[in-house]
Amino acid sequence: MKRLIRECIENLTPYPPGKPIEELERELGIVGSIKLASNENPLGPSPKAIRAIKENINNIHRYPDGSSYYLRQKLAKKFGLPMSKIILGNGSNELIKVIVHTFLSPDDEVILSLPTFLLYEKVVQSFEGKIVTVPLSNFWIDLPAILTAVSSKTKIIFINNPNNPTGKALKKKEISHFLNSLSPDVVVVLDEAYIEFATDPKVVSAVELLESYPLLVVLRTFSKVYGLAGLRIGFGFTSESVIEGMNLVRQPFNVNYLAQVGALAALDDDKFVEKTLTLTRDGLEFLYSQLDRIGLKYVPTQTNFFLIKTPLGAGETYQRMLREGVIVRSMESFGLSDYIRINVGLPEENKRFVKTLEKILS
Ligand SMILES: Cc1ncc(COP(=O)(O)O)c(C=O)c1O
Repeated sequence: MKRLIRECIENLTPYPPGKPIEELERELGIVGSIKLASNENPLGPSPKAIRAIKENINNIHRYPDGSSYYLRQKLAKKFGLPMSKIILGNGSNELIKVIVHTFLSPDDEVILSLPTFLLYEKVVQSFEGKIVTVPLSNFWIDLPAILTAVSSKTKIIFINNPNNPTGKALKKKEISHFLNSLSPDVVVVLDEAYIEFATDPKVVSAVELLESYPLLVVLRTFSKVYGLAGLRIGFGFTSESVIEGMNLVRQPFNVNYLAQVGALAALDDDKFVEKTLTLTRDGLEFLYSQLDRIGLKYVPTQTNFFLIKTPLGAGETYQRMLREGVIVRSMESFGLSDYIRINVGLPEENKRFVKTLEKILS
């Protein structure tokens, strides 16, 4: 019989089917649960974005501007780049897919670190690429080992900086050295979804390295520090020739109207960004001190989330926390079966997390 679903798609691991919080609560007979599982902004969306969306809601009968002109203009000014080097996506997730779609032919090799953001692998598999994995070194992305793994077939390298799920970040100098050592015909995707949270002054965006490496694509998102995950909007910086290729593949109206409106306003919301960063840093300090008190190991982070080693194992800890109304992320699917990952929540959510963790461990 004729194969319907392509073989490479059939072999994909399904994304764990999440349920709406309301449905989970109904099933478990609980109310008021908290979610610390998706690295979202606990403060909610940027207030400036909310206002702008409300003011522009009556325009949604129109198709959005397919070039995201004003948003690219504003990003260009903010980051000191020409508009022609900026591309917008339906979340940075979409840009990951567009990059692979644009550059990858079947059997081309793609280098990934392990563990890292799961989407890279899935997208590469769906375009029949060959995945070459390079294990992390003590939770860090191992750039020298990646260089060793490069072959004449390597087409794309994904680097998540800071890395999800470990929260470790590479310094700009290390990335610069890496790019200088690389053959210039490899597309390097530097996913900086969490770069704004980094506190190490040597961990900064690789935007300034674009000039020296034309096949570098730097990805950013409005989902985290701006609190707009539900709108689905992210952006990328790269050379004009890469953008030209990506524009051939992306859908003409990939970024919806309200996402553009909200993102434009959020870029002016420095106060909200500052508040988010302070909340995150204070929250991390609190959580670290509590975990030290309890005697649990964790992996210090440069992001708004981090790994905690749990004596119960990831799956059991996740289940027990869930029954108490605290949703965390089990790291089993990342191959870290002793770890859970949480993001920083509001102060009261952080306290509840600690209290619940102590309860289920006792
Ligand atoms: C490493 C990484 N990149 C990208 C994304 C997705 O970003 P977006 O919401 O812009 O698609 C996430 C979301 O969790 C992420 O962890």
